[in-house]
Amino acid sequence: MMNKLFRQSHLANTLRTKTIFRREFSTEVKDAFNNIPQGIKDLTSRKIYKTHNHPLNTLITKIEDFFLNKKVSDLQIPGEKFKLFQDFDPLVKVKECFDDLGIPEDHVSRRVTDTYYHNKEIVLRPHTSVHQIPLMKLQGNSAFLVVGDVYRKDTVDKTHYPAFHQMEGVRTYSLKDIGAKDIKEAKLITERDLKQVLENLARNIFGDVEMRWVDAYFPFTEPSIELEIFYNNEWLEVLGCGVIHNQVMARAGKDINNECGWAFGLGLERWAMKLFDINDIRLFWSQDDRFINQFKHGEISKFKPYSKYPACYKDIAFWVPSPVSDDTFNENDFFYLVRSISQDMAETVELIDTFTHPKSQRVSRCYRINYRNMDRSLTNEEVDALQVKIRGLVETELGCELR
Ligand code: DAH
Repeated sequence: MMNKLFRQSHLANTLRTKTIFRREFSTEVKDAFNNIPQGIKDLTSRKIYKTHNHPLNTLITKIEDFFLNKKVSDLQIPGEKFKLFQDFDPLVKVKECFDDLGIPEDHVSRRVTDTYYHNKEIVLRPHTSVHQIPLMKLQGNSAFLVVGDVYRKDTVDKTHYPAFHQMEGVRTYSLKDIGAKDIKEAKLITERDLKQVLENLARNIFGDVEMRWVDAYFPFTEPSIELEIFYNNEWLEVLGCGVIHNQVMARAGKDINNECGWAFGLGLERWAMKLFDINDIRLFWSQDDRFINQFKHGEISKFKPYSKYPACYKDIAFWVPSPVSDDTFNENDFFYLVRSISQDMAETVELIDTFTHPKSQRVSRCYRINYRNMDRSLTNEEVDALQVKIRGLVETELGCELR
């Protein structure tokens, strides 16, 4: 969930940012960049994280309770109160989402194969970090949380779904607030505070777990670290965070010699899947009462899988265009195609074989698509029809030759 995409080295830039505003799909100019299918647009209005009894909603409430009502760390900052924002439009500006956070121009996360573009300048946010700077700019926002649905084109498996949810947290202070003599000391205090707050949070939600900190890289924090917890016999990465980068502070209108702060981002499904024992990410979007009726608001309880409908797999093999490169055939395009055609019925898509023809050097790939509907049985005819559609589009849209 803590996408590798945001970790690579970055170039400096000095773009300025504007405050948040609401957008509608229909009122903006579309262009060749537009790659948001109707199915994804429909998800933007579901707001499952606000649904009463929903595990995501319970988790948010619990984290919110920690930040709003508990002592988060030893630092007591006069007048400080964490605020929760959860109503920002997921359509955001490319500039705010990438440029202002120091994500380089040629970064993979900006590609149309990775991010949903409404047009050249507007995307469906791939992370809630997009809201950091605009919020910090507003007077009085020195401690806040942002929750929202985020969108990424990604692999098809049980832990990835093109829409998921993140929570962002930010706390900033001045040297005076924390009694630091200079900015160097302030940053050390900030890092210590960050670790303390997030360890307290993890303990508050997961119980008395073992934890460890791992070095990381994000363009918008320095240093950057990740928290891992030992839960159900495995180490689990639960969040990324760091001391807010000077450039980000400066773009938020802060005096970098007198103010500093920390930020974190966490994937809510990743937490909820572990806490509630939900083993397929599609379940969060299920409209089947047998899902939602199992949960009570504010209570973390284990999900009891209801009778699973049978799965059915189909293989598809094709020659990818030559010469083979990320530009001629990008796997994400194939995943995206399978998703768009099958909606939520593709449970996993796995590459099961690749083959290079010894003479022609052409490359063939074979993928196995596992179909299963969470809420009802699929008929053979239905699956066959999906497969036929996918096969057709692999040729016409991706320029591959079926085998
Ligand atoms: N935006 C990052 C992601 O989606 C997560 C993240 C990392 C957020 C570090 C932060 C941060 O605020 O400081 O992968």
